[in-house]
Order: sequence, then C-alpha cells, then structure tokens
Amino acid sequence: MTDLKVSRRKAISDHAGEREKGRSISSLSRLFSFFRPYKVNLTFAAFILVITAGISLTFPIAIRRVVDGFYLGSLQLMDYYFTAAIGLASLLAIGTALRFYLVTRLGERVVTDIRVALFNKVISMSPGFFERLLTGEILSRITTDTTLILSVVSSSVSLALRNILLLAGGLFFMFLTSVKLSLLVLLLVPIMVVPILAMGRKLRRLSRESQSKIADSSGVASEMLLAASTIQAYNYIGQAKTTFTNLSEETFNVAKKRIRVRSLMTALIIFVVFVGIVIILWIGARDVKAGLISPGYLVQFIIYSAFVAGAVAALSEIFGELQRAAGAAERITEILATGDFIEEPENPEIMNQNNQDAIMFKDVTFFYPTRPTEIVLDNLSFNLKKGETLALVGPSGAGKSSIFLALQRFYEFSGGTIEVHGKSIRKVRFFDLRQQFAMVPQEPSIFANSVMENIRFGRPDATDSEVRNASKQAAAHDFVNQLPDGYSTFVGEKGVLLSVGQKQRISIARAFLRNAPILLLDEATASLDAESENAIQGALEALAKSRTVIVIAHRLATVKRAGQILVMDEGKIVSRGTHQQLLVQGGLYSRLAKLQFISR
Ligand SMILES: Nc1ncnc2c1ncn2[C@@H]1O[C@H](COP(=O)(O)OP(=O)(O)OP(=O)(O)O)[C@@H](O)[C@H]1O
Ligand SMILES: [Mg+2]
Repeated sequence: MTDLKVSRRKAISDHAGEREKGRSISSLSRLFSFFRPYKVNLTFAAFILVITAGISLTFPIAIRRVVDGFYLGSLQLMDYYFTAAIGLASLLAIGTALRFYLVTRLGERVVTDIRVALFNKVISMSPGFFERLLTGEILSRITTDTTLILSVVSSSVSLALRNILLLAGGLFFMFLTSVKLSLLVLLLVPIMVVPILAMGRKLRRLSRESQSKIADSSGVASEMLLAASTIQAYNYIGQAKTTFTNLSEETFNVAKKRIRVRSLMTALIIFVVFVGIVIILWIGARDVKAGLISPGYLVQFIIYSAFVAGAVAALSEIFGELQRAAGAAERITEILATGDFIEEPENPEIMNQNNQDAIMFKDVTFFYPTRPTEIVLDNLSFNLKKGETLALVGPSGAGKSSIFLALQRFYEFSGGTIEVHGKSIRKVRFFDLRQQFAMVPQEPSIFANSVMENIRFGRPDATDSEVRNASKQAAAHDFVNQLPDGYSTFVGEKGVLLSVGQKQRISIARAFLRNAPILLLDEATASLDAESENAIQGALEALAKSRTVIVIAHRLATVKRAGQILVMDEGKIVSRGTHQQLLVQGGLYSRLAKLQFISR
C-alpha cells in the first residue's frame, strides 16, 4: 500500500510539475472574477484606503512645521498643529478600522464563494476525475488552499494597496522636500528589486510544492483513517504511521526551504534599506550643518523616506505572501478550469418513458480513460423491451459493472450507440438520463445520517410514510424498528453501524422510493445468511415487477427469473438465451452455474 501511495503521489506531482511552467501571479488574477459581484464594496474599501494613506502622508509635514516652529517659538502655531494632528489621528483610526472591516469581510465573502464554487464543480465531475486525485487532496484544496487565499485577500491585498500609495506619495513628497537626497534614495531601488524578483519566483514554486505536500498527506490520512480497522487488523499501524510521518516531514522540509528563502529576502531588504537611510541621514545632517536645509525639512525627509522604506519592506513581504497565494490559486483555478471527460449536449432532447424500447446497445465499444489500451466492452449489442428483465453473468472483470457505468454516462463510450427509451444517451441531459434509473450498486453508499434520511436519498421530496412504505417493500422495516432509535437511528460514516445485509436493504428501499422505470441491480457478491438472502431476493422480485431490469447476477435464483441472459467474458457476449437454453449449450454458462452461482 505504501508503494502504491508513493507511485500514485508521484504520478500526481509529475502531472503538476509539467503544468508548472509559465505560471505567475496571473493565476491569482483568474480568481478576480470572484470579486466582480462585490464591486461596490471594493470601491468603497479602495476609497477609504486612499483617504487613510493620504492622512498618513500629511503627518511629516505637520511634524516639520512643529519642529521648525519650535525654533521660531510661535506657541500658537504649535498648539494649532498639535490639535490638527489629534484630529487627523482620529480620522486615521476610524478609516483604518473601516478598511479592516470592509476588506476582511470581503475576503471571507469571496473565499466562501470560491469554496462553494469548488465544491459545486467537483461534485458534478464524472468518476474519471476522482481516479486521478484522492478525495483528501480535493478537500485540502477546498480548505487549506482557500484559507491561504483568504489571508492574502483580507490582509495582504489591502496592505499592498496601502503601501503602494504610501510608496508613491512618500516618493512624491520626498522629491518635494529634497531632490538631491531623493535621487540618492532612488539609487537603492534596483539593488533591492532584482533579488526580490528572483526570490519571488522561487517562493512561488516552493509554496505550490508545500501546498501539494499538505494535500498529499491529507489524501493519505483520510484514506487510512477510513480504513483504520483494516489497518489495525493487518498490524499495519507502524507502516501507516511511518507513511504519514514521512509525508508530514516532507511537507515540513519544503516549508523550511520556503522560510529560508523568505528570511534571506527579509534580511537583504532590511539591510539595504537601513544602511541606505543611515547614509542619507548622514549626508542630510551635513547639509543641515552647512545651512543648506532646515532641521525640520531633514526630519520631514527622514520620515518620508522611512515611509518609503517601510512600504518597500512591507511590499516585499507581501510580494512573498502573494507568491505563496499564487501557488494556492494555481491549484484552485486548476480544478475550476478542469474540463470533464463527458459533456452534456447543448440542445438536449427530452426522454419519452413510454417508448417500448427501454435499452439498446449497438456495437458498443468502451474503455476507461486511464487505460485506453484495454478494451473493456468489445462490440456489445443487446436490446431490452420495456418491462423485461435481463441478467448479465460472467466471471469477475468481464465488464458487467462497466455496462452500467457506460449506460449512465459516467464514462464516455468510444464506438456504437446506446439508447434509452429510444433516445441516444448523448442527446439528453445527465439529469434526465439518470432520472430513468434506480441503481442498486454492488457496494451501497450509505451516508452518516439517520436511516430515514438515507432511504429518503432515493427521492428527497418523499414523505416519512412513503419512506416507511419503501422500507417495508425492501424487507428493511423489521430490522429498522429493532434499531435503538428506529428510523432516526444514526448509521455512522459509510453506514459502519449497520451490517452489510442491512445496508443492502436500505439501498434497495432507496430504489423502491425512487420509483424509476429502469432498475439497475448490481448484485452483491458477498454471501448473506439464508434468511436475509431470502428477504432481499423477495424484495428485489417485488421491485422488478412492472419495471425494466438489468441485473448483474451472482445468484442462481436471480438468473432463473430473467427472461434473457447475457453471458459475458472479457468484454464480449459469448452466449445468450434463457437459463434452460444456456444450460443445454454447456460452455462457460454451465461451468459458472456449477461453480460460481450460490444456489438457494
Ligand atoms: N475505473 C476504472 N478504470 C480503469 N479500469 C477499470 C475501472 N473499473 C474497472 N476497470 C477494469 O475494467 C474491467 C471490467 O471491470 P468491471 O468492473 O466491469 O468487471 P465486472 O464484470 O463488474 O466484475 P465483478 O464481477 O468482479 O464486479 C476490469 O478489467 C477492470 O480492471
Ligand atoms: Mg462488478
């Protein structure tokens, strides 16, 4: 299992690696569409930002006047400036609080939208999508990647805007104060920008890597947690711990590299900025001594250059954050932009349930997208009239369950035609197509909810008494009543609090409730005790009445009931007929009948 994990992870990260090239902060901009509905909020926040930055920029002037006024000795003027400073301070306080409120709320809003959009996208993806990513990894994108975006949107972006304004304003006023000193400051800029850009690229790559490492470990953790008892039964706990620890350590190592680059960048910037300030101060101080500028002007200049330096330092930090978020944004936009293997028709046609041809397969060829060389269904043809029952039999891996998947359009078939109620399944919407079927899968999907809600899943608008009726028909009512809270009993994640046979009966009750014209039944291979077996057989027989049925049969009782039996092997139909006809023919069918069917 460890090896399997590693190779799968490798496959995924290779995949990510090849898409790595040519990415930039532009993937963040792809998320901008999520801001579009909140233009008003955004504009208002930007407005406040400009005001508060403007106020900050007037402070040095006030201070200069105070300093120079100090020398001139005009007390009245000094009082005036100090009062004005207090007024500005309150404006600044209110403005900053407002900005924080607006921007943070906007961040939360947008990230909520992104999360919902991600889930909405993923929930309707065909199974092919989930074959490439572990569920835990998808969850990690929905949670941790969006959280990273949140931190950027709610703090970094507003800080960035604020600092850009301070930088521009600060530079402007610096020039106004002293052109000579300002030019000296500008010499410093290229010394700083070049390493920042170089390190930024590295940061983004490392961030993406670290996010996908986190996702890897979430994927593995969720898979192993779901199988905790199997892991314990096989004494695999040690290996499981090692696998997870190693993955977490890998995550840490990448984070370590990222932090190292960030620290280096910070040290470099602070050093350059402060040395620069000291040198300029030095030159400035000499100018004051020489009487070239007043001390107030020097103070004003220093404060502006501190603004500029602070802004540059903050921006470089934010730049690092943005690179990190860009990594996360890439992973999110990647999912949002994934096309599905299967597409709905643009001009869908409507299904007619009264058509007498329930299902038709004509020369159908099918393979799974992950294994294009392995033909799973090879030139398959069969017909099923309304109300008939068809049984599919054949050895494991023959392609029986694949027929169901192709029929419900979870995967695309490559050749031939599949029709349901006389309509090509490619011409109708997924919703309309799937409305025709009630599927009882080989392994039922039970949700962490009550029995009642699990059955109601078959038809969400069904009343409680309809649910109970379906449950009675599925021979589930009696055992449900014996559960501690009857229909309100919580069944645990994946129905762990129920037995296999109970889960199957809930799944059958669902199919009753759904009341669709075509029943797709993938008989469980696990054998049940005689009593539940009989109960389930009876329930299925009742369900098959007045419906069109395809049943993947593993039991003789089921096969005997079918009007038509297809015997499949390696994706081909090797013979067809009724039970008696096939027995007479001998071959695979009679062998299966002797060996595999559990006859009761
Ligand atoms: N998602 C998938 N991707 C790639 N190959 C798959 C996938 N699912 C099944 N296969 C392969 O397709 C072939 C047919 O599988 P299928 O599930 O249809 O068999 P089956 O007849 O239902 O067997 P069983 O009786 O054991 O349920 C097998 O060789 C299997 O390995
Ligand atoms: Mg199967």
